[in-house]
Amino acid sequence: MNDIQEAVALLEQGGLVAFPTETVYGLGADARNPDALQKIFAVKQRPIDHPLIVHLADIAQLVEWAREVSPSAFSLANAFWPGPLTLILQKAPGVLDLITGKQETIGLRIPNHPVAQALLKSFGSGIAAPSANRYGRISPTTAQAVREELGSAVDLILDGGQCAVGVESTIVDVSGKQPKILRPGIITAKQIAAVLHEPVIYHKHNVPRVSGSMESHYAPVTKTRLIQKENITAFLNNLTEADLPIVLLVLTEIHFAKIKSIRMPNDPERYAHDLYQTLRELDKQGFKQIVIEAVPDSSEWEAVQDRIRKASRG
Ligand code: TXA
Ligand code: MG
Repeated sequence: MNDIQEAVALLEQGGLVAFPTETVYGLGADARNPDALQKIFAVKQRPIDHPLIVHLADIAQLVEWAREVSPSAFSLANAFWPGPLTLILQKAPGVLDLITGKQETIGLRIPNHPVAQALLKSFGSGIAAPSANRYGRISPTTAQAVREELGSAVDLILDGGQCAVGVESTIVDVSGKQPKILRPGIITAKQIAAVLHEPVIYHKHNVPRVSGSMESHYAPVTKTRLIQKENITAFLNNLTEADLPIVLLVLTEIHFAKIKSIRMPNDPERYAHDLYQTLRELDKQGFKQIVIEAVPDSSEWEAVQDRIRKASRG
């Protein structure tokens, strides 16, 4: 039996399989099996009413999970799937409450990673998969990070290397009249608007049902704060010995005695790729604080901006 066959067998028996996607690693279970879904919530310590994304291999499976797929939904699916996009649609009859959090809608995504594709094709049905981390923590972008987060609580971890995107998918709600972005990702509002030929609104606050929209989320254990570039020098000058050691994540190089600084990529996609892995490593190094320089306030940066804002709301 190869890894994919073993994974499929485990899913069929109601087990949990962690697998790579291009965004982050997912904690997968058979989306039609309530006992398996319960395990996801137990392992993640996730509130039971937080809905799960169902992953599919092929657009032809959409009708099994969603009813009324609007023209906007089809346009986005055709433009971005397989890829880092989740669509919120009206759910089909028979979709379990554990998937939807008892809402009328369902989140669906076709990921673009060869291992995820192989798994979904062989399994032949939907795989529910939240990010493979404990609730509120940083999503894992390597198999090693999944092991650290969940250890023996998962039956199998498929190793597909480091995730290319590094932050979670863009979530677009196309279940109603007006498309809304519920979670920014590497596919930007601009790109979505260009496909739909209409502006999309971005719900920065509210939507408590989207766990990623809770104010503190995606957070390291180490106290993390966000700081504007112009305030960095004053901030560092005011530190006392008792505040050290701290580490700075900056966009332009800075040298300051006794302060470790890490220069992050000046490109939003490369920054997103590095962010969680960097935070995860720093979290193990005993710093009293992680200080992150704010990133530009533009469409291309909105996913990174969102994640560093949430990481710093401890
Ligand atoms: O990139 C990703 O989306 C990753 C990979 C594994 O696919 N998955 C992921 O899942 O980030 P999770 O559960 O960590 O985050 C999914 C978000 C949650 O905040 C959830 O509340 C929201 O999607 N969601 C799922 N179904 C929804 C629905 N019907 N309405 C509103 N939000 C929904
Ligand atoms: Mg998550």
